[in-house]
Amino acid sequence: LLAQNKLILKTDSTGIKINKEIYGHFSEHLGTCIYEGIYVGENSDIPNINGYRTDVVEALKALKIPVLRWPGGCFADTYHWKDGIGPKEDRPSIVNVFWGGVTEDNSFGTHEFLDFCELIGTEPYLSINVGSGTVEEAIDWVEYVTSSNESPMTELRKKNGREDPWDVKFWGIGNENWGCGGDMRSEYYADVFRNFSSYIRGNGFQKVICGPSADDLEWTENILEVIKDKLNLAQGLSMHYYTLPTANWEGSKGSSIDFDEDMWFATIRNTMYVEDYIRSHLAVMDKYDPDGDIKLIVDEWGTWYDKLEGTKEGFLQQQNTLRDALVAGINLNIFNNHADRISMANIAQIVNVLQSVIMTRGAQMVKTPTYYVFQMYNVHQDAELIPIELKSENYDYNGEHIPAITASASHKNGMTNITITNSNPNQSLPVDLLLGKAYKNVRGNIINAKAITDYNDFGKDEKVVMTDYSIGKVKNGELHVTMPAHSVVLIQLEE
Ligand code: AHR
Repeated sequence: LLAQNKLILKTDSTGIKINKEIYGHFSEHLGTCIYEGIYVGENSDIPNINGYRTDVVEALKALKIPVLRWPGGCFADTYHWKDGIGPKEDRPSIVNVFWGGVTEDNSFGTHEFLDFCELIGTEPYLSINVGSGTVEEAIDWVEYVTSSNESPMTELRKKNGREDPWDVKFWGIGNENWGCGGDMRSEYYADVFRNFSSYIRGNGFQKVICGPSADDLEWTENILEVIKDKLNLAQGLSMHYYTLPTANWEGSKGSSIDFDEDMWFATIRNTMYVEDYIRSHLAVMDKYDPDGDIKLIVDEWGTWYDKLEGTKEGFLQQQNTLRDALVAGINLNIFNNHADRISMANIAQIVNVLQSVIMTRGAQMVKTPTYYVFQMYNVHQDAELIPIELKSENYDYNGEHIPAITASASHKNGMTNITITNSNPNQSLPVDLLLGKAYKNVRGNIINAKAITDYNDFGKDEKVVMTDYSIGKVKNGELHVTMPAHSVVLIQLEE
């Protein structure tokens, strides 16, 4: 009997690359993401390399992070980069007005961030202060960071210990300027973008327009209308979409740890909306940019729940359970399948904030379920997308239905890699894979746990990890796979 769930690989070459930057991350001066999470300073008791936590550096290196966005978020449009360079004892303190009103000493600035990127082998993506900064400040930052000219800014950089410029290609021109980045109207921001972008120059720069949140098509439309005669000022348009289990930002967003099937279903359903939003923004972009030169960059995504009990207001600290693993797997499958137009995505945020891949407490560190999903999906980085046709049965809950299965596939170095999620928490589901040809070897991995609320806790055995998963053999170009309830699976086929 053939299963209801069918995945057909369209193996004809498409030439569409899944940009490795789709597996990007985001770091902000927020809560304990930078201070404590990444940077503890050289004098800390916590083992560190030039002030960066050794455990976190090792874990992030192993994850092969392609790109890291910094310094925000809302923080970016309050940040004056010159406060964060030079001898640390001379750097002024600043108050982080958006996130908890904490005072920070600016000991983590431009050098510390860019050196960190070099240390973990990732490309930096800098977000320019457009909300409260000036064009002059932005020009100086670009000169300071990327130039090899003889100039006051490069002299200053050398005086601060860095002879050669860094290689920074990705530049965000503002963040959420419709909200925390200056409460601008779209037409106004679009002109500000034109102004900033015309001065942000450099070889191979990719400049990113502050785009919409979720389904705000009007913002996308209005911006593109204003810049349509100058499209080459932009290479990307950002989009932010956070997954809340609830319908509103106001009030409780539900617990990150203590939830039942109600909240599980709502979270999965809401995260799947991202595909509609992607399609509708791309449709608007196609109108103004039919050649698709401006790419969609989902530079903030992930789950957002109530803060953990006992944590500070504005620190956005939550737990990361098997539910988050499913969310990550589903989103990454969706981004892969739109790799022709999505060139980058950055999960929020890398350490200790929202849907992080790593959490720290004092000297302790854990890898979250989301970490393992990124590790599993790494096979897709810079691989060629294999388009799929997917037929999935529904996951029904309380009269609502969503597809239970999501998937994506790619090809690299003689291997075909397929990632599949089953969000049904009660039922294991058979899936028929129609591969179109024979394969020599098949192997698999799975991320799963006993309970949907399982997570990895400090000082305890990990409950949610990636393990081997044995898969049958390919017969007549077909493979039959069982997707256990609430699981994420990788299948690797060797030609
Ligand atoms: O990631 C947390 C915040 O969410 C970011 O600072 C902001 O851009 C978004 O609203």
